[in-house]
Amino acid sequence: MMSLLQLPSHPKYFLAFPILTLVVFLIMAYTNIQTQSSINSYSPSQLPPQTKEDLIVLLWTWPFGDPFPLNKCPKPFDEPRCFFTANQSWYPRAHAVIFHHRDVCNSKSQLPQIPRPEGQYWVWFNMESPSHTPNMNYMDNLMNLTMTYRSDSDIFTPYGWIEKKKEAQNFTIPEKSKLVAWTVSNWNPNSKRVQYYNQLKDHIQIDVYGRQHMRLSMEDLISVISKYKFYLAFENSIHRDYFTEKLWHNALDSGTVPIVLGPPKENYEKFLPPNSFIHVDDFPSAKDLANYLLELDKDPIKYEQYFKWRSELKPVGQTSWETQYCKACIGLHNAPSYRTIPSLSKWYT
Ligand SMILES: *[C@@H]1O[C@H](CO)[C@@H](O)[C@H](O)[C@H]1NC(C)=O
Ligand SMILES: *[C@@H]1O[C@H](CO)[C@@H](O)[C@H](O)[C@H]1NC(C)=O
Ligand SMILES: *[C@@H]1O[C@H](CO)[C@@H](O)[C@H](O)[C@H]1NC(C)=O
Repeated sequence: MMSLLQLPSHPKYFLAFPILTLVVFLIMAYTNIQTQSSINSYSPSQLPPQTKEDLIVLLWTWPFGDPFPLNKCPKPFDEPRCFFTANQSWYPRAHAVIFHHRDVCNSKSQLPQIPRPEGQYWVWFNMESPSHTPNMNYMDNLMNLTMTYRSDSDIFTPYGWIEKKKEAQNFTIPEKSKLVAWTVSNWNPNSKRVQYYNQLKDHIQIDVYGRQHMRLSMEDLISVISKYKFYLAFENSIHRDYFTEKLWHNALDSGTVPIVLGPPKENYEKFLPPNSFIHVDDFPSAKDLANYLLELDKDPIKYEQYFKWRSELKPVGQTSWETQYCKACIGLHNAPSYRTIPSLSKWYT
């Protein structure tokens, strides 16, 4: 065989080298496009299950259709092991199938139509609140395990959590030049949060960001909010354990004090340390809350009390699809051998 480096001298071969290079280049480009498009659609099995103990976990759909890298569980979620795939041809062999509610709730035909292999778990995954979860009855007598932000789920996938710091370290409060911020994309005038905002804004300056308001890009979110002393972490609906990225990421990650409107204070206290948030229910009226915030604004020592917890603890305010699915692996390894959920809508309220 002729080596590419040995340039042929015969005139007949004169053009062969550039043409060959072009062909090689085109093949490489084509392979690259193929790889790219398979990442963007269903990701094929990158690696087969490594050991017998590996559970085969099928993502029936990508959540909201968005693919992400599979089989790369971050620490500390990398033990025990699972083999994840989003290729539905694995269905007959899968130990578990995870259904992201939003992607399968329009019609029962979006669920597998082939009988379930023996012993296979069907996992119901949902991060939306019950108020925004249509057609739960489609899932009656089908699902074996729940995977939600609710702490009594079989697989608990909260929007954020508190971790102990490796070593205690005083927290530096970001420099503050503004008072109260709110970000809202879905402006529903009848919602509790908009009604409360309307009362509050008469007594204290609130800067509102989001659709129909001041613009704020995802990249700037943390740096902009960190300049505020307070952030309104108002949930779109009120349900037990339903605290979203508004609390964990927008407020806590940016080093501001969350003003929370959601489930009762005792519910927040299960997940957050004392003096890490201000609950609207602690005040007889929005005016009283506003007065308290203005008081804190003038009293730095009192305001700083809301950051004391941060010398020992830190918020983990941003989670990823990878992490959520990796948690499912741990849950599946510890799952009871038989479990079934007769009615999701009775449980998920
Ligand atoms: C899905 O897996 C099957 C069987 O392993 C394979 O033949 C097929 O090419 C895969 N599909 C995709 C889109 O990767
Ligand atoms: C934090 O600051 C306080 C007082 O400002 C000080 O007494 C304490 O030793 C500091 N703790 C750490 C871990 O640096
Ligand atoms: C899962 O639930 C279905 C429907 O109730 C049931 O037939 C099946 O045996 C259950 N599987 C496991 C592993 O619990």
